[in-house]
Amino acid sequence: MLGLDRATFRKLTSSRMFEGVRLKSSLCEIFHENTKLTPLSGRTAGALSAAFLRSKAAHRLTEAPYKQYSLMDREDLPTIDPQGEFEEILVGRRSRRLFTGESATREELAKLLYLTYGRTAPGGLFRPVASGGGLYPLELYITVINVEGLEPGLYHYNIEDHCLDAVQRGKPDFEELNELLWLQDIEDPEQATMIVYVTAILQRSTLKYGDRGYRLVLFEAGEAVQNLSLVGHSMGLGSLPLGGFMDNPLSEYLRIDGVDEVPLVPLVFGRTPFQPSAKAPTSDPEPGE
Ligand SMILES: Cc1cc2nc3c(=O)[nH]c(=O)nc-3n(C[C@H](O)[C@H](O)[C@H](O)COP(=O)(O)O)c2cc1C
Repeated sequence: MLGLDRATFRKLTSSRMFEGVRLKSSLCEIFHENTKLTPLSGRTAGALSAAFLRSKAAHRLTEAPYKQYSLMDREDLPTIDPQGEFEEILVGRRSRRLFTGESATREELAKLLYLTYGRTAPGGLFRPVASGGGLYPLELYITVINVEGLEPGLYHYNIEDHCLDAVQRGKPDFEELNELLWLQDIEDPEQATMIVYVTAILQRSTLKYGDRGYRLVLFEAGEAVQNLSLVGHSMGLGSLPLGGFMDNPLSEYLRIDGVDEVPLVPLVFGRTPFQPSAKAPTSDPEPGE
C-alpha cells in the first residue's frame, strides 16, 4: 500500500473491490490544494483575519463560544477540582510563545516522540493514539535547535526502530524557517528547543476509506498534537501549534512531495518561564499583543 506510484494506485482503486470508496476525483487532494498557504495567499489571509477580528461579527462569535439552551431544564454537575498529575497537566496546558533559551534533553525529545506516536506494543502496530482502521497515516519530523547531546538539524522519527533519521544536519537557518513558518507570534524563536512537524501520508487512509479517510487523518493529527503538547507540558516544555505555514516550501524543506505526503501542523517547543499550575494557569501574551 505504501510507496505506490500514482498509476498503480489508480489501477488498484479502480477495481470493483474499491467501488464506492475509491477517490473518484480525489476531493481531499483538491480540498487540500485549495487550502494551501502561499506567501501571497498568506498575506491576504492575514489581512482578512486581522480585519475580521476587529469587526462586530467577530466579537459576537468569540465573546461567548458556547452553545446555550435557555429554555430547557437543566441538571447540575458536580464541580471539578482537578486532582493528581494527569488532571493538572490537562487543565494546565497553554500555548506558549515565550521561551527561555534553555535546552531540552535527548530523553525529553525521545519521550515526546514515543509517547505521541511510538509503537507501544512490541512487535505490534499500536500507538498512543487511536487510528481509524489502524492505518496510522502520520509521520513526525523534527528541527532540532537546542537539545543536549544532539546535533542541530532536521530529523525524521523512525517509528519502527525508535530512532532519528538525519535528513540534514547543521544549525537551522532562522531566515529560512521564517519564510516557511509564521513565527512572528513567538517572542524570540531562536530561544526554542525544537520544532516538531506532523505530516500525513494520505493514501494510508484514503486507499481504504476514500475521501472520508481524509477526515480520519485530520482527526488523528489532532490526537497527535494533543499528545505532543501535553507530554511537552508535563516535562516543562511549552509549545505553540502553528496554523500559519507555507505548504509547498515547508514540504520542500521536509523533503516530502506535498501531495501524497503533506505537512499538517508544526509545533514549536521551548522551556518557558511559567510554572504550570492547575489552579491558575498563566498565559503568554495573545498573538498580536
Ligand atoms: C491548529 C492550531 C493552529 C494555531 N496556530 C497558531 C498560530 O499560528 N499562532 C499563534 O500564536 N497561535 C496559534 N494557535 C494557538 C491558539 O491561538 C490557542 O490555542 C488559543 O488561543 C487558545 O489558547 P491556549 O492554547 O493557550 O489554550 C493555534 C492553535 C491551533 C489548535
